[in-house]
Amino acid sequence: MSTSKTKFPRHVAVIMDGNGRWARERGLPRLSGHREGAKTVQRIIDACVQTGIQFLTLYAFSRENWKRPQLEISGLMRLLVQFLGDRHEEMMVKNIRFRAIGRLSDLPEKTLAAVRRAESETAGNTGLTLVLALSYGGRTEIVDAVNSLLAERKPGDNTPVTEESLRAHLYTADFPDPDLLIRTSGEMRISNFLLWQISYAEIFVTKKLWPDFSTQDFLDAVSDFGQRERRFGGI
Ligand code: FPP
Repeated sequence: MSTSKTKFPRHVAVIMDGNGRWARERGLPRLSGHREGAKTVQRIIDACVQTGIQFLTLYAFSRENWKRPQLEISGLMRLLVQFLGDRHEEMMVKNIRFRAIGRLSDLPEKTLAAVRRAESETAGNTGLTLVLALSYGGRTEIVDAVNSLLAERKPGDNTPVTEESLRAHLYTADFPDPDLLIRTSGEMRISNFLLWQISYAEIFVTKKLWPDFSTQDFLDAVSDFGQRERRFGGI
């Protein structure tokens, strides 16, 4: 691959962390932190639309998150349904295409129905592609890709698997890899997010908690990305 200096990210992925801490600092239930986090989601979507970023992928619910208390899980699922319902009109006006990735069959019926409806109603939009990772795990995604690849093989077909053939079976087959990965609330971890896709992503970690992450913080991360020299393993 050739040396390239990309000045503007085409695809930004975000690990939205710190909703719980934001709530705890205020003596509020964790769900209040998630509700406030949903407002940040809206701000960042708007910033992407305004700056012309083409893909935004948000880690909204991991497979590990099913281990959380039932009350928090159901609150988050309700918040998602509400978010997709409330934003429908806006997604149409702003030309946003909505997609979800993950083990979507794990989702409660109502959430899955809202996700499928939003996907089909926005399928013809050509502006920002907003991707929500739901019941998502990076390792699970790779395992699912391998199984999907094997399932479509004819008996006796021993063609070696290539990066391209495996990539075509990932949940993200239709999207370019993220150029920039943002993580809020200071942790220096990937937490099983887009393991394959972030191979060459630039990583930006901020101590800001997700509910406090402002439009300016997002623009600062994008501008920081613009200063980085991306060599993709070249010199
Ligand atoms: C991590 O913070 C955040 C989540 C597990 C959920 C993310 C959900 C939202 C931002 C709101 C709903 C999303 C949409 C798209 C409407 P945490 O709870 O792990 O925070 P902590 O580490 O401080 O406890």
